[in-house]
Amino acid sequence: MCGIVGYIGTQAATGILLAGLEKLEYRGYDSAGIATVLEGNIHCVRAKGKLHNLREKLEQIENPAQVGIGHTRWATHGKPEEYNAHPHMDTARRVAVVQNGIIENYRELREELKQLGHEFRSDTDTEVIPHLIAQLLAEYSSSPNQHSSPFLEAVRQAVNKLEGAFAIAIICADYPDELIIARQQAPLAIGLGQGEFFCASDAPALVPHTRAVLTLESGELARLTPLGVEVYTFAGDRLKKHPRTLNWNPVLVEKQGFKHFMLKEIYEQPGVVRACLEAYLNTDWNPASPGQMPIRLGLPAELYADLEQIQIVACGTSWHAGLVGKYLLEQLAGIPTMVQYASEFRYAPSPLTPNTLMIGVTQSGETADTLAALTMEKERRDGLLPKFQPRLLGITNRLESSLAQMVPHIIDTHAGIEIGVAATKTFVAQLMAFYCLALDIAYLRQTISPDRLEQIIIGLRQLPAEIEVVLEIQERYIQQLVHDFAETQDFIFLGRGINFPIALEGALKLKEISYIHAEGYPAGEMKHGPIALLDAKVPVVAIAMPGSVYEKVLSNAQEAKARDARLIGITPMNAPEAAEIFDDVIPVPSVEELLSPILSVIPLQLLAYHIAARRGLDVDQPRNLAKSVTVE
Ligand code: M6R
Repeated sequence: MCGIVGYIGTQAATGILLAGLEKLEYRGYDSAGIATVLEGNIHCVRAKGKLHNLREKLEQIENPAQVGIGHTRWATHGKPEEYNAHPHMDTARRVAVVQNGIIENYRELREELKQLGHEFRSDTDTEVIPHLIAQLLAEYSSSPNQHSSPFLEAVRQAVNKLEGAFAIAIICADYPDELIIARQQAPLAIGLGQGEFFCASDAPALVPHTRAVLTLESGELARLTPLGVEVYTFAGDRLKKHPRTLNWNPVLVEKQGFKHFMLKEIYEQPGVVRACLEAYLNTDWNPASPGQMPIRLGLPAELYADLEQIQIVACGTSWHAGLVGKYLLEQLAGIPTMVQYASEFRYAPSPLTPNTLMIGVTQSGETADTLAALTMEKERRDGLLPKFQPRLLGITNRLESSLAQMVPHIIDTHAGIEIGVAATKTFVAQLMAFYCLALDIAYLRQTISPDRLEQIIIGLRQLPAEIEVVLEIQERYIQQLVHDFAETQDFIFLGRGINFPIALEGALKLKEISYIHAEGYPAGEMKHGPIALLDAKVPVVAIAMPGSVYEKVLSNAQEAKARDARLIGITPMNAPEAAEIFDDVIPVPSVEELLSPILSVIPLQLLAYHIAARRGLDVDQPRNLAKSVTVE
């Protein structure tokens, strides 16, 4: 949700900033801009639309400036027009700011600053920041108490007046050797080079230059100069921080021959499942060696002790993973589990229950609603009797994220960076985390026999090869099938039991990248309303995997067929009864019901991908969306 970058050093900044923005474009892409300091002035270039529009403008300008900031926007306040694009500047164009987040008290600040003569040029909340800093700099220059860096001091005072969640980077024409950055909740990291320093909302923009990274924490600001980095609290105390080395390969953020990141990421799923199995399963365990623990998530036993309830909070696709998690935790470990949208939980939390484990699921680890729900839960439980105290666990793909800093326990989903805005491989990795968590708890609570546990583990180990089969056999078929949906405007996805969340996920994927209206429904619910939507123009995709609800789903599918809907079935291989019912069958290997979501979701991802690609849409950066939603 907006990407920001900054550079200070000895090279020309513009190219470095543009390359950084390219890596962050998944965070927002409705406008972009860059500002640099050159010969005592700020040069600011902005463009509406995708980054290539900005690049075209910049190609016509030679600019050797060695300090600058850049931004790629996902609009919150103000339409996606050039005048609302970042960087924003003060009236005299001496201070330029890029921001990711929301300044909640911008109206009051704008009114105060207007009264003082500042002229505003945009509809954004961000624009108050350069005006405020310019105002504080002006007041400060006439004050007798001089600071070694007036620019830093003005920014420090300014951030103390801002309310909301934000990450900002600022340059000033009068301080050409300084780049100041600050963070309140929204993510921001510093890359340490040799005589050059970088900042960015996310690591992909840093790894081409350096693996040595300092993560700024909430309530911290930093002064970057060509000589080094100083970090302070918002109160002005200097901090000593140590960089981490990112274990990242820059090739991971390339398409590697695939047309889109999303397709590459779909194809990475067998490897992701293997990585999760390698990380989570203890190869020394077997039913005959009960001394060993079968699962190794690195979680302490106290987290599970006397567990009475599990509460999962998440958004979007992660919420769907949470629903599969609920099924597993209840059916395998016997623990009542609630799954809530984080944005709803924040304002209507469930009553406090004792011995409750709260799990926040977020691939980015930066989703504002999920982080806020976890913070709220922690605050309302802190200081209560031990059995009500907070037990927090995060499931994330980003170990360096805010989530990982916020909760004491993390399950790393090992999916590698995901660039496509539509989550695919990280969803499958979240499911793997839930399988292993549920099995771990079930084993400790003895709600599962060692033999049944071994059976499930064997099934899990077979999944990577089975996903490969689906990719190999079905992609071409789906590519052909989508020709029939050139004009389709509505889709219905049906699933039951553990595959109901997969129906939701299939519908979400299609909506996100193809802009086709799609509904996911529990198959048995269709007759209670949505059946009224059906006719020959509305295809119905039903997930009919062997198990307790197989026959039921086939019956529900027939109800749709009787209303002329075109029926597409995600079915087991060699199922003649299904072939008779469905107009089109997309068979996947026949696995036990419990494990089927990992296979049934693959054709749905491919279906959404090929429909969108055939329509010529921007699959990796669908309109109006952003990969990481850092605003409420
Ligand atoms: O990073 P998170 O998992 O917290 O993100 C949550 C949602 O914003 C995310 O899943 C969104 O729905 C995706 N675009 C789904 O493809």
